[in-house]
Amino acid sequence: MKIQGKEYRTIWFDEETKLVKIIDQTKLPHQFIIKNLKTTKEAIKAIKTMEVRGAPLIGATAAYGLVLAIIENNDQSYLKKISQELINSRPTAINLKWAVDRMMKKISGVNSKEIFNLALNEAKEICEEDVKFCENIGLNGLKIIEEIYNKKKDTVNILTHCNAGWLATINWGTATSPIYHAHKKGIPVHVWVDETRPRNQGANLTSYELNEEEIPNTIIADNTGGILMQRGQVDMCIVGTDRTLSTGDVANKIGTYLKALAAKDNNVPFYVALPSSTIDWNIKDFKEIPIEVRSSEELSHIEGLDEKNNVKKILIYPKKSASMNLAFDITPAKYVTGLITEKGVCEASEKGLNKLFK
Ligand code: MRU
Repeated sequence: MKIQGKEYRTIWFDEETKLVKIIDQTKLPHQFIIKNLKTTKEAIKAIKTMEVRGAPLIGATAAYGLVLAIIENNDQSYLKKISQELINSRPTAINLKWAVDRMMKKISGVNSKEIFNLALNEAKEICEEDVKFCENIGLNGLKIIEEIYNKKKDTVNILTHCNAGWLATINWGTATSPIYHAHKKGIPVHVWVDETRPRNQGANLTSYELNEEEIPNTIIADNTGGILMQRGQVDMCIVGTDRTLSTGDVANKIGTYLKALAAKDNNVPFYVALPSSTIDWNIKDFKEIPIEVRSSEELSHIEGLDEKNNVKKILIYPKKSASMNLAFDITPAKYVTGLITEKGVCEASEKGLNKLFK
């Protein structure tokens, strides 16, 4: 998608320099910086510090992390060690393990010079596949938006939480892909963007990328969605997910669950958009999903532009107060109207997912 009129992807490999290139998302929206990742250490750090974030993108970064590992040392025991470190870099999104397992399957036991090309092609393939899947999610979700528009004959108001946009994937996004497709088709859409405290992925990333594509959007405080739904100002919600269980329960950015409850109470359809790389076919009980706990400094401090347009970080809490920063929550399947996947839209249930994927 576009930034200042130019098409970008969120991650790519520079064949000449053998560097992985990323858009440093910790600097958006105030600075647009393309960063080089030279080593596995830098790839792991980029995932942990959220220079790259969003389930599909951290999976792709882990895949390229293994390409960098091969450049460092293509010994199988080293690659095994790095693969574990990549999987452990963030706990909730299943895409990390999915991508690393896929890479390791390709390169395990390969000791020839071929290993680098095998790994690079697989990492590229993971990215290409994600782009295709996100595009299909868009086409499948577009039908739902179109249906609402045909009934309403007026702007479709869509609420989203966090950033499940193209910046969270390689291109298109998951939750935003149906929105981009509707906009391209001429359907009038307006997006309510949850700010998404504490890291403000909604305000800093979703609103930013929608602006760049000229899609009307309004940032709202995280607690505003409920009253908008009561007032009939939300036609549908679409969010992303970091891990979807085969039961249809979904883990996503903290606050998603509360939006789903409000949507249920107000008969607002609540959709979750995902590529199949986000499905965890093993865990059956959502209580077993590891929920990331991040630094409480992400809550107590906030970053923005000062009066001289310099980026500044300031403390906003009482110095002595304790705070807790859970990064994800779970929305049980019963609150999910449907899962929008690359293969179609299905019920959020084992039966629904099996119909599409098994
Ligand atoms: O902590 P983040 O910013 O990585 O969380 C991202 C989300 O919660 C997204 O909704 C999810 O990864 C889906 S991305 C298509």
